[in-house]
Amino acid sequence: METSPVFTMHMSNSQLLIPPDAVISHLMTRFSMGIKYLVEPGPNEVQLRQIAQIALRAPDHGELIPFRLCVVQGHGRERLADLFETYARLNGKNDEACSIERERALRAPISIAIIGKVIEHHQVPVHEQWTCIGGAVTNILNAVHLMGFAGKMLSGDKVRDPSIAAAFCENGETLLGWISIGTPTKPLGTCREKSVDTILSFF
Ligand SMILES: Cc1cc2nc3c(=O)[nH]c(=O)nc-3n(C[C@H](O)[C@H](O)[C@H](O)COP(=O)(O)O)c2cc1C
Repeated sequence: METSPVFTMHMSNSQLLIPPDAVISHLMTRFSMGIKYLVEPGPNEVQLRQIAQIALRAPDHGELIPFRLCVVQGHGRERLADLFETYARLNGKNDEACSIERERALRAPISIAIIGKVIEHHQVPVHEQWTCIGGAVTNILNAVHLMGFAGKMLSGDKVRDPSIAAAFCENGETLLGWISIGTPTKPLGTCREKSVDTILSFF
């Protein structure tokens, strides 16, 4: 495949180690990986900053940057586990269910909380701002995949729990969920194949 001018222009002196056609093929093999299959190591600080940089490349009408990211790692995982356990107990879960909830916070080496900062705007409706946030999530998952890690976006009722939301959000912000990230312990790509023909037409 011929090298695209964009790659020639921007990537010739960069750290891009994979040829463009291999990047395309690699992106096609991104699948989510559940937390029970994620182990150490997760991305280091340099990689986390690159991941955040790539999140910022999501299409963003009006450059509102309608999201921010909060990394949960190290002791932060214990804090999150405490919040999850408290949530489970208050919802009448038994000991076993509570420890499963703790595990959800402790399993993956890194989780990145996705926090929506959607505002009323005269030119950029709310759905466009959420589209940007979705783009950021996808960019993060693709970056993680290209770095050789795996991840999964997770939410659940917990994101709407006032104590959990307050641990991450300022006034007016919304907790979308967490992207769990780590090194995969099994091969990716076990999901059902989706057909391009169901989504693609030409006008
Ligand atoms: C905002 C958001 C929240 C999600 N929350 C959950 C969740 O709580 N539990 C879950 O199993 N999947 C959840 N998913 C779906 C998974 O992240 C994943 O996309 C899905 O399992 C399909 O896998 P794939 O990415 O390999 O196609 C969520 C996805 C998004 C975008």
